[in-house]
Amino acid sequence: MTDAPSGSFRDVLRAIPTRPEERPVLRAESLPTHPMVLLRTWLEEEVENGTPVPHAFALATVGMDGAPQARTVILKDLDDALWFATSSGSPKGLALAHEASAEAVFYWARSGRQIRVKGRAEPGPRDVSDADFLARHPSARAGVALGTQGTELGDPDEAERRLAEARRGAEERPGDTSTAWTAYRLIPTHVDVLQLRPASAGERVDYVQDGDGWTVRDLWP
Ligand SMILES: Cc1cc2nc3c(=O)[nH]c(=O)nc-3n(C[C@H](O)[C@H](O)[C@H](O)COP(=O)(O)O)c2cc1C
Repeated sequence: MTDAPSGSFRDVLRAIPTRPEERPVLRAESLPTHPMVLLRTWLEEEVENGTPVPHAFALATVGMDGAPQARTVILKDLDDALWFATSSGSPKGLALAHEASAEAVFYWARSGRQIRVKGRAEPGPRDVSDADFLARHPSARAGVALGTQGTELGDPDEAERRLAEARRGAEERPGDTSTAWTAYRLIPTHVDVLQLRPASAGERVDYVQDGDGWTVRDLWP
């Protein structure tokens, strides 16, 4: 028998504020014509405001069983696409090899802003993946070299010994790369933007790819 939570949690959750302080009104006509320019501007504002890890986002993919799956990853670069990096052998890497459709969701609580980016994620050039790998901490590189992420840990002492050995290897051979570590670019086709407000539903805008450009529309929130 397992211990499931008991008693209602509803009142505790209900009491948590979810609304930001006042923010400029969001209207399609005053937004940049490219949604990645808006994403960059909002990220820069979060960095200036000291938001912790504002470049982390939820990445949703379609599993090989057809079920949705999501996890947090870090934005590594931003141009006309979103760049993130992971192992091609991880569940998300395998999912993307099978079905490239993906969605990224950024949420910044203090400013009450959400941006969802839908598109196709494809592996970037090998030199970009290698550069990303080499910029990582030796412990992170060691973890990739072991290739054990997500498998059963077993004996923690044995696991620590293997990790330490792999870390030594990463430190001794700082130029070693990993063919599994892959920088992916999520190429946007649809971007949904939401600005919450203190006392109303807020505003919502979407960008839909239209030939070489984008159509921007105000939506009911
Ligand atoms: C803040 C944060 C940032 C993360 N960044 C990454 C990342 O950039 N790449 C990555 O592979 N995993 C990252 N992870 C770990 C993933 O969320 C996930 O646990 C792991 O990659 C396994 O995912 P998968 O089994 O769906 O492939 C991060 C986790 C957190 C909490």
